[in-house]
Amino acid sequence: MSILICGASSSVGRDLCDLLDRENIRYDGTYFRCREPESESVAFCDRDNMFQVDFTNQEEVNAFFTANKSRWRVCVFLVAERNIETCQRNWDTSIRINVDTVDYMSALCAKEGIYFIHLSTDYVFDGTIQPSFPTSIVNPIQNYGMSKLLSELRVQRNYTQAITLASCLSSIGCSAPHYCIIRTPTLYTSRASSQLHTNPLMKLARHVMDLRQGACVGSVGACVGVDNREVQRPLYIPDLCVFIRVIAMVAIDSMTGVSSIQSSSGTNPPKFSGIYHFYNPDNCLTKYEITKTVAGYMGLSCFHVVGASERNERAHGADGVESRKLIPHDPQLFDTRFNIRNYFTHSFDETIPHVFSRFKHPKIGSSSSSNSKGASSYFLLFDLDGTLVHTSYAHYRSYLEVFRNRGLSFMSYSRWKTYICYKNVHTFLEEVAAHIAENDFIQTERILSEIRNEKLEAFKIYAPLYITPTKNAVNMLRWIEKHPDTINAVIVANCSQDTADIICSIVPELKMITNWCLRENDWTASTTTTTTTTTSTTTNPKKDIYQRAKSMYYNQEQYIIGFENTYVGYQSIAKITPIVYYYIDETDTSTNGSERIDAFIFDDYRCVYETMTRTPRYLV
Ligand SMILES: NC(=O)c1ccc[n+]([C@@H]2O[C@H](COP(=O)([O-])OP(=O)(O)OC[C@H]3O[C@@H](n4cnc5c(N)ncnc54)[C@H](OP(=O)(O)O)[C@@H]3O)[C@@H](O)[C@H]2O)c1
Repeated sequence: MSILICGASSSVGRDLCDLLDRENIRYDGTYFRCREPESESVAFCDRDNMFQVDFTNQEEVNAFFTANKSRWRVCVFLVAERNIETCQRNWDTSIRINVDTVDYMSALCAKEGIYFIHLSTDYVFDGTIQPSFPTSIVNPIQNYGMSKLLSELRVQRNYTQAITLASCLSSIGCSAPHYCIIRTPTLYTSRASSQLHTNPLMKLARHVMDLRQGACVGSVGACVGVDNREVQRPLYIPDLCVFIRVIAMVAIDSMTGVSSIQSSSGTNPPKFSGIYHFYNPDNCLTKYEITKTVAGYMGLSCFHVVGASERNERAHGADGVESRKLIPHDPQLFDTRFNIRNYFTHSFDETIPHVFSRFKHPKIGSSSSSNSKGASSYFLLFDLDGTLVHTSYAHYRSYLEVFRNRGLSFMSYSRWKTYICYKNVHTFLEEVAAHIAENDFIQTERILSEIRNEKLEAFKIYAPLYITPTKNAVNMLRWIEKHPDTINAVIVANCSQDTADIICSIVPELKMITNWCLRENDWTASTTTTTTTTTSTTTNPKKDIYQRAKSMYYNQEQYIIGFENTYVGYQSIAKITPIVYYYIDETDTSTNGSERIDAFIFDDYRCVYETMTRTPRYLV
């Protein structure tokens, strides 16, 4: 008999699966899109005990349930749309995902006598009165809380009906099924695949990881106001998972009559039934305090962050003031039905290293940065185009000319800039060539080759006119050249050797770095293998280029650090290292996808080498 985890691919689900794996407890899990960094999601959702189920499709749910229900005693339901803005914008989506799915699944489970554990939220309260008990009056102030409250009511209704039915049948030995609804505050985890920018508290780290704000000595960057008034009570997901595991095992024990968990008095603890609050009784800190704690751990400057009340937060132009109207003031969960002190909950400070150590590296020159083997300690991977040199307009102008000469229209420069940030231009060229060649493979390759040659000729003209180094990139290259014992650097470029030569003739300092990995290296290698490899390489030439650069030049350095300026490049480099510096041109008003990444943001290499070498003054 095992546990079913609906939404095993969620943040809570992944940590719960880890816990059950460690304890050899059998379970099945479901996922829908399995949205996570590619490398992990494939492995996680490919496991034999994982099933893809769309819970908004009742036929699909029914078929899955009917085929497997005999295996399950407990169902943990984690499927949800928890993005507050999405729920606020779209009430129908909130109902469909947060209410209807729970309603349908809990009805099926109740009928089969499967114990149901449903996760809910402290957002069912308005947060004006502290503390909030499970019996306190609810009053959600936004769609998300409203939908979660409705979901609680559906679970209760379905199980009340089932209990009534069960008591009628009790003479034939049918036991009453039970449910447990767990309300929690904001959650966070240290799982490597968890994304900081999707968590309302962890994304506060952006204030200090954005080096444009205050990392540079003498920087005149604007102050950022971060709320220092409202308290947050974050809960570490692994702590919650232990609670869920206890509830599930107690339920299974009570069904099977076997005891795996003993209470302190030596008897079986009572079966959990109804609504419970699970929380960290000690965590209580403002967003400003959270930001400062992260800065302190990461060794980053926090000078530019101002602890703010709502009034001066507005004055400092902090975002999120409006959306905070949707956040309850302080629900402060509390529960007297069980002793929370019987459960170990990690303090926020204790967990910070678990969450952020993957992004941290010692300062270059500090004793911890030297490698005992005498080898370099840092392997730096630099994207060339847009990260070390501004080449975007030169490339654009060259393609524009090629397309015009062929009587074809080409995208606008603003569309081009967005396109190359999120997609790969080679994919675009392949599509155009395939269209002209009416999908004839050989003709497509011929046209592609012609376009590349024509583009190279045009690039020879436009490169000297438009290519310049990015801000202080030349100083960064000189700085690297001065640290040969500590730094091993490679330039990775999604271009041919001819194009790279043209760029180097304009910015000769690039040659200070002798390790280069070009797309051509990739092509040469792949064309000597199989056609399949060549095809997949040309479909997305940048996809594996960092992996290739690593295999060519990595020499077991302790820290791998990537430098990129596009979202597509970031996705690629993030497979190699979590420590990424993301360049945004200081004149660029767009976010360049930076809101979807977990990286240090910079617009001037001076900020980078100062961050990499100096500890901020207030931490000294
Ligand atoms: N995170 C918090 O701070 C917090 C706080 C309080 C309460 N909670 C509650 O805790 C529970 C888990 O939250 P979480 O943050 O771990 O969730 P999450 O990471 O946002 O994951 C949501 C889950 O729902 C699944 N899902 C979405 N639409 C689906 C569909 N149509 N069919 C099947 N599955 C679908 C997703 O599957 P794919 O990813 O595979 O598409 C994913 O597994 C939720 O009930 C939430 O309301 C969370």
